[in-house]
Amino acid sequence: MPANDLPGRVRVVEVGPRDGLQNETELVSLADKLRLANALAASGLPQIEIASFVSPKWIPQMADAPELVKAFVAPPGVAVSALVPNDKGYDAALSAGIKEIALFMSATESHNKKNINKSSREAIDTLEKLTVRARQDGLRIRCYLSVVFVCPYEGKTDPEKVKQIVDRLVSIGIDELSLGDTIGAATPSDVWHILDRVGGSLNKDKIALHFHDTRGTALANVLAGLQAGVSIFDASIGGLGGCPYAPGASGNLATEDLVYMLQGMGVETGIDLEKLVDAGEIAQEITKRKLPGRYLQACLAGRAKSLKQAETCR
Ligand code: HMG
Ligand code: MG
Repeated sequence: MPANDLPGRVRVVEVGPRDGLQNETELVSLADKLRLANALAASGLPQIEIASFVSPKWIPQMADAPELVKAFVAPPGVAVSALVPNDKGYDAALSAGIKEIALFMSATESHNKKNINKSSREAIDTLEKLTVRARQDGLRIRCYLSVVFVCPYEGKTDPEKVKQIVDRLVSIGIDELSLGDTIGAATPSDVWHILDRVGGSLNKDKIALHFHDTRGTALANVLAGLQAGVSIFDASIGGLGGCPYAPGASGNLATEDLVYMLQGMGVETGIDLEKLVDAGEIAQEITKRKLPGRYLQACLAGRAKSLKQAETCR
């Protein structure tokens, strides 16, 4: 039983193939992306954000999104979503077979301009039009609101501004809203505060939290979110990632670290941690570097030493 009235089950949304790989400067082959997606799906993750249909001039790593989505066969029970910024991306995602889009905008004017070359007003208008299209096409609509706590260009974000945008996003009819600590600057009290501000606008079961771990507070922030009743968390295998248009943003919270903590607290995820480590090993192979995920490193060190030691990681 989870302690202190925490949610009994959490849905983990794996964003490594998108948020993680978008930050890798060296292009990863389609075959390697597919290998990673298949390994992630085999771990029992309920949702994988597989790619983004953004401009390849802005994010060259995502240029093969249509091919990847078409090639990836999700096992039953694994939802596949993709980031979509505009009509062009929407058309491409739809024809590739995407059934859930992830829209995105930021809580500040400057980050919207840097990330999507739009003002906040233009960004909301675009999201509204895309939501209408997605409703007509029967797609599920996830939406990210970035720099909810701190903006790399404007500093601390005004919670009142966040609430106003959240209210507008709720009114246009999104299914789920992921609140992003894009540069990993929030602490648990910030999380409680923002959830308190937006809690009246949106049911807790429609709120996801998306933490980057730049300053090491991501797991503490997850705990704060759990205590506030949130049960959807985004994470990235091995702690891959960052936002290319947010200086100082480092990797997302590592999926294995999140799942390890949840399992230890008696919170169900349906995810096989050992298979997640297998996926993390693949993520290291394809990015050709050691990833920051702590559980991943502890387990891989154990596996390398002996099977007996690996058993103790479980
Ligand atoms: P723009 O330059 O203003 O767009 O970019 P444009 O409409 O003027 O088009 C410029 C060119 O891009 C044209 O090509 C378009 O066809 C093409 P040209 O005529 O010059 O040959 N183009 C596209 N091509 C393919 N797919 C498309 C597309 N759109 C235009 N969808 C745009 C505007 C939004 C496209 C651009 O700014 C962009 O792609 N931005 C995406 C940036 C990005 O991906 N950032 C990272 C993701 S957000 C994130 O990581 C945060 C998150 O994780 C949450 C958190 O951590 O907080 C979600
Ligand atoms: Mg992110």
